Amino acid sequence: MGQNMLSLTDQRTGLQFEVPITDGTIRAADLKQIKTSPDDFGMMTYDPAFLNTASCRSAITFIDGDKGILRYRGYPIEELAENCSFLEVAYLILNGELPTDEELNDWIALVKRHTMLHETTKKFLEGFRYDAHPMGMLISTIAALSTVYPEARDIQDPENRKKQIARLIAKMPTITAYCYRHHFGLPYIYPDNDLSFTENFMNMMWKLLEPKYVANPILARALDILFILHADHEQNCSTNTMRAVGSSQADPYVSVAAAAAALSGPLHGGANEEVLHMLDEIGSKENVAAYVKKVKDGHGKLMGFGHRVYKNYDPRARIIKWTADQVFTVTGLNPKLEIAKELERIALEDEYFIKRKLYPNVDFYSGIIYEAMGFRPDLFTVLFAIPRVVGWLAQWQEMLTDPEQKIARPRQIYTGSGERHVVPIDKRHGSTVGAD
Ligand code: SDX
Repeated sequence: MGQNMLSLTDQRTGLQFEVPITDGTIRAADLKQIKTSPDDFGMMTYDPAFLNTASCRSAITFIDGDKGILRYRGYPIEELAENCSFLEVAYLILNGELPTDEELNDWIALVKRHTMLHETTKKFLEGFRYDAHPMGMLISTIAALSTVYPEARDIQDPENRKKQIARLIAKMPTITAYCYRHHFGLPYIYPDNDLSFTENFMNMMWKLLEPKYVANPILARALDILFILHADHEQNCSTNTMRAVGSSQADPYVSVAAAAAALSGPLHGGANEEVLHMLDEIGSKENVAAYVKKVKDGHGKLMGFGHRVYKNYDPRARIIKWTADQVFTVTGLNPKLEIAKELERIALEDEYFIKRKLYPNVDFYSGIIYEAMGFRPDLFTVLFAIPRVVGWLAQWQEMLTDPEQKIARPRQIYTGSGERHVVPIDKRHGSTVGAD
């Protein structure tokens, strides 16, 4: 095999160039030397939606889309889901290594210290309508926390970053539960630090008048596994947003709010809620074939299907299907599971989906579990954001400490008008000034 060099010939000038290949990529900046004249800006790459562009070097998550592989810091997602807790995996994603028992205890203690919300934040939440969508409430409240912790702007101080990271991870479940309770006019339940991260979330969500909330251990473990599966996924849309906003040195709260806003879109994290609406629209197994035909005719998408990277089964979807069986032993079978399984069966046999390599993704089955556990569909994307805040913050920190990174500012291909000059309004084409 030859050297790691790419030889390019510019047919416009006949000039030849040698560009180094590193990690299977060439630096776009190395193309700037390719010019047609001295005042030419130089060659750029054009890659709308970054379909084939690496924006960073990252050691956090590895995905092989063809083989359906997902690893956090080298550990297969299947092993992490089976052997670890969510906070243990959060420590791994943030620090690069699995914690010792002492490190894990210290980490849990740090997170537990920050589960409460400043009382003014509760008043902020009171300002929302009872039927406000929880994602809108979450995004706004996270951004508002930047006013509660102004010291978070000192993003270059590692100890300060660590404190804000712990605060955000700890407060996401509290904000989520308060959004849920606000909808029903229920009193807020304060965190109970005797409970695990996930049990405490369930406590703040569902405790009523019992003296002490006791979480069903099967449901608590299922939710913990779902949090592990959603914790990071390399350079997805919301993580790209977190890196871009964070690159201007904005504080982590407004950066996370921006990332959560990106996640809320129906093509990204909002898909889990859309899957439930799709299954409700289909209504029964018998209607699945007609719905699939509608999609193939170009009317809408199969929500929860397809992925930019996975061109094979999303490994998380497989684990979620197993987790669903555990949940249904407690909650009873969610009838929508039969519709989902029929949809998957038909789609996986249909040339339209096979040709486009469309398989169930992480969002296809997660909503069915969440609904069976008692979560409303409008909370599903918030349930995605709770664990994903770990990935956003780990990627944010990696960006800040990467000497190659600076403020994100892509270029463009200009397609607008050439230079032209202002005409007084009464002289413009079609002006009615002075007509009467
Ligand atoms: C997440 O990036 C991540 O890692 C995201 C995520 C994470 O953990 O962060 O994994 C989480 O966001 C999962 C994806 C959730 N979204 C959905 O389930 C929404 C439905 N899926 C699609 O919108 C779509 O598959 C995307 C957005 C997920 C991926 O879109 P791409 O890569 O831009 O692919 P595309 O839209 O160019 O589609 C290629 C072809 C098109 O057909 P043709 O124009 O070639 O005829 O496949 C078709 C699309 O129309 N297609 C679908 C489809 N997804 C793609 N057709 C029907 N149903 C679908 N779901």
